[in-house]
Amino acid sequence: MDKLLIKGPCKIKGQVIISGSKNAALPILASTILFDKTVTIENLPRVRDVDTMLSLLKSLGSKIQFFNNKKTVKITKNKKKKIYAPYSLVKTMRAGILVLGPMIAKYHKSVTSLPGGCLIGARPVNYHLNALKKLGMKYKIKKGYIHANSNGKLKGTNFKFSNISVGATENSIIAACLARGKTILKNCAIEPEIKDLTNFLKSAGAKIKWIGKRTVQIEGVKSLNSIKYSIMGDRIEAGTFCVAAALTKGNLLIKNFDSNLIQTELNLLKKIGSKIKTLKKEIYIKGPNKIKNINNIITKEYPNFPTDLQAQFMVLLCKANGRSTITESIFENRFMHVAELRRLGAKIIIKENKAIIEGNTEFLAAELMSSDLRASVALVLAAMVAKGQSVINRIYHLDRGYERIENKLRKIGVNIKRLS
Ligand code: EPZ
Repeated sequence: MDKLLIKGPCKIKGQVIISGSKNAALPILASTILFDKTVTIENLPRVRDVDTMLSLLKSLGSKIQFFNNKKTVKITKNKKKKIYAPYSLVKTMRAGILVLGPMIAKYHKSVTSLPGGCLIGARPVNYHLNALKKLGMKYKIKKGYIHANSNGKLKGTNFKFSNISVGATENSIIAACLARGKTILKNCAIEPEIKDLTNFLKSAGAKIKWIGKRTVQIEGVKSLNSIKYSIMGDRIEAGTFCVAAALTKGNLLIKNFDSNLIQTELNLLKKIGSKIKTLKKEIYIKGPNKIKNINNIITKEYPNFPTDLQAQFMVLLCKANGRSTITESIFENRFMHVAELRRLGAKIIIKENKAIIEGNTEFLAAELMSSDLRASVALVLAAMVAKGQSVINRIYHLDRGYERIENKLRKIGVNIKRLS
């Protein structure tokens, strides 16, 4: 298993290119099951989860052709359709459940593995199943698989999500594109990645309209057209690099990225003392000499502070000049990074879903273990400001969502190398 060696402390300086968004790519790739014709997708991030989704599509009968160093992919469904999404692929990437909606809409049949949990939570899919059921999907769960069918086309319906869910919103929008008649979905998640998905589907001829802040209307169509589409930039990667600049008192230029996507995060970084300049497609950030503490950051659905940046901000607040608190309100177990940060010297107390972070921490290098995708990158950030050489194990977690992060970090001044 690969590991990372990082020698700190360091100072970020330079410019970074943000890759395509993993969390936009995954639902868009899953939705290609709806198409009969070729779809070309550009600006794909070269991360493990995208590779897993492409393997899943291949196993379901799609022909995958790569171009431009695997950042562009051409997907064509061959005649032989398959409807079985195996546990072996879905267990490593919970977004595998996103093939259920398009399969039931297109083939009216599907055997999809339940995703199973992960370290950050149980990851149930009840909101997905409730919405698809209302669209006409019947299902039975047998031996960890969802055996679904719909006796012909799905039927348009009105449905209100009991809770906001990114994946359930995506699955339902995708499924409703080929349903008979009109669907109105209420209490939807509105993450930018969902807007990227609806922009993609609309450009292929789907009839989708956002008619309220969290309400979307979809009128079913017979089929979708062949298109070429470029995935949006990854806002979590951009936010992670901004935290790196703030943490190391460095300065960083992020080009070709829409700063509006991380307005909440940039406001928080300004609050802790960073100097930030934004143009339409550019962000310049200069880290503060003294990091101010912040009370009560709460992770919530977009447009509030994202759970996927919680671990990264926790590292930042360990270096603040006073006590801060972060409340994790989305996942039930997303403090796995705390035990590892404590090994570097962090002083953090957990009370239920609240973390109380003492500031003014001097991190000392240590050997560390990654647990989940965003926790791993938090360990990378902490190692960058720890005195000495840290080792981070099991970085396959990191590779799920960050494209060769060590190359990008080395280019902006971090003493980092990968040991395979
Ligand atoms: C998406 O996961 C993202 N993944 C996650 O990013 C992100 O953390 C999450 O949204 C929240 O923003 C992708 O987009 C591929 P949810 P998803 O459905 O869709 C519970 C990363 O690091 N829930 O909005 O699974 C669920 O357990 C990943 O890139 C149910 O109870 O998130 C969670 O507590 C991690 N039943 C909450 O709702 C359901 O049917 C929000 O989950 C679905 C979800």
